[in-house]
Amino acid sequence: MIKKIKKYWEASSKKYQEKSTISTSYAHYGPYAPHEDKLKLLGNIKNKKILEIGCGGGQCSIAFAKRGAVCKGLDICVEQIKYAKELAKKEKVNVDFSTKNIQNLEGIKSNSYDIVFSAFALQYIPNLKKCFKEVNRVLKKNGLFVFSFDHPFYSSLDPKTSKLVLNYNKLKICSQETIRPDGSKIEFIAYTHKISETYKCLVDNNFIVEEIIEPFDEKIEKGWTKNFWKKVYPLKLVRLIGPTIIFKSKKK
Ligand SMILES: C[S@@+](CC[C@H](N)C(=O)[O-])C[C@H]1O[C@@H](n2cnc3c(N)ncnc32)[C@H](O)[C@@H]1O
Repeated sequence: MIKKIKKYWEASSKKYQEKSTISTSYAHYGPYAPHEDKLKLLGNIKNKKILEIGCGGGQCSIAFAKRGAVCKGLDICVEQIKYAKELAKKEKVNVDFSTKNIQNLEGIKSNSYDIVFSAFALQYIPNLKKCFKEVNRVLKKNGLFVFSFDHPFYSSLDPKTSKLVLNYNKLKICSQETIRPDGSKIEFIAYTHKISETYKCLVDNNFIVEEIIEPFDEKIEKGWTKNFWKKVYPLKLVRLIGPTIIFKSKKK
């Protein structure tokens, strides 16, 4: 599965970056969610060591670096990391970007980061347990683990009718064949992580869950721009359930 997920992102990175136009002025949490400067979940990040997992084009790490944090960004996709490195150069900030499957943080020192952050990437990780164990290992005591992904309720709705069409109890994997602009087909795979499962997984891995946020901000201006994303996240639907859920937790 990981191979298929990587293949999808290698093929889609260019379009994703062109269409989503994610800002580097602030760190975002996902579609229709307020950005970090509004939510203030991370506190003052000046001189803090931040590891971003599933960093994509690196916009969040770049925004953190602009605020004085020391950042490392990891992503499985070579194209996304290439984009991130070029973007950091263009924005004249220093971020250490490299390719890595974030299910395992092998090679990263234990107790070495103040914050681990992830925006809209952990829905592509089948095994959160393994990933959270690793995140806990690399965080310092009292270090923050703040992340967002697809709201699992949102995955139960039919985008056309807004009706509940899937059984929440049975949601696990979303696999969809998508057609690329050149007519070729590619499989998109994502996982639905139920709220209770994510909460338990955090607690079982030595985290205290401080906040679960289910935001909805219709007025987002930049980043996840409405023109492109309204196809994926129709306004009628997102008014019923915001598509993003955010967890803030702390290593015990
Ligand atoms: C929706 S994008 C989000 C990227 C970025 N955080 C952003 O906000 O634009 C999901 C990212 O997760 C990455 N990803 C998926 N599975 C991964 C894995 N096992 N290890 C590392 N990155 C992964 C993809 O390559 C992609 O860049």
